[in-house]
Amino acid sequence: MAEIEPIIRVRDLVAGYGGRTILDGVSVDVALGRVTCIVGPSGCGKTTLLKCVVGLLRPLSGSVLVAGRELTALDEQALPAALARVGLLFQQGAMLNSISVADNVALPLREHTRLPDPVIAEMVRLKLELVGLSHAAGQLPSELSGGMRKRAALARAMALDPDLLLCDEPSAGLDPQTAAGLDVLILKLRETFRMSVVVVTHELPSIDKIADDVVMLGRGGKLRFAGPLAEARRSADPEVADFFARRTPEAAAGTSSLLDALEGRHA
Ligand SMILES: Nc1ncnc2c1ncn2[C@@H]1O[C@H](COP(=O)(O)OP(=O)(O)O)[C@@H](O)[C@H]1O
Ligand SMILES: [Mg+2]
Repeated sequence: MAEIEPIIRVRDLVAGYGGRTILDGVSVDVALGRVTCIVGPSGCGKTTLLKCVVGLLRPLSGSVLVAGRELTALDEQALPAALARVGLLFQQGAMLNSISVADNVALPLREHTRLPDPVIAEMVRLKLELVGLSHAAGQLPSELSGGMRKRAALARAMALDPDLLLCDEPSAGLDPQTAAGLDVLILKLRETFRMSVVVVTHELPSIDKIADDVVMLGRGGKLRFAGPLAEARRSADPEVADFFARRTPEAAAGTSSLLDALEGRHA
């Protein structure tokens, strides 16, 4: 059986800011048509990795192949075309506040295509329906709740029918119910459009529900784990095991001293 090409293939990636290395020799594949969750401690370089995959940050060295194209070999002019089929949902979900939700979703279509207005309007309508925001098309982003704003940003990330969708902590700041709704939506994208989805998240319930594969970045900008969720759960690596057991060295210590105190009181 021929091996299926990964949608993202990163090799020996070194990246950072102003002489400071953040990612130090990361090699990882993201499989086509699956949901991959990226986890790791805050500040370890998860967003930096996404930035390299969408060409927002030039690696210091290494290779970044997206849908078979080597991004590091492309110049600024060639990048947008190469990445037209990649959707990005930023951590902040930045929407323009001066224009309606529908116009925000239309923006990438107006920028990257020459489709006539009625076609764009129809595509926007479909995307807003997909995320359950048909009723909010005419509203300003500032008039929406946090969860609705996130879904509107998702509709915009989907505007150009991407093959690959990258979401940076999509459920940050959302209540658990709204976050769960977003998970359902992500699974729907994988099922309905066979989309490959990468989600940076810390939320274990979310990972349980949506992840096919897990990528964990560790300290020192190194890859700590990459593989199927089931394998991550069985991992003997203490850092991986602790993450899935929801333990941190500090929290574990804190819990036991709290338990000790409680037991002491009840003794
Ligand atoms: N634009 C930037 N300029 C300088 N340092 C940055 C920049 N963006 C991120 N960093 C630093 O790089 C490290 C990794 O950041 P980031 O990739 O955002 O981590 P994560 O998403 O895993 O929390 C952090 O120490 C952060 O302060
Ligand atoms: Mg981040």
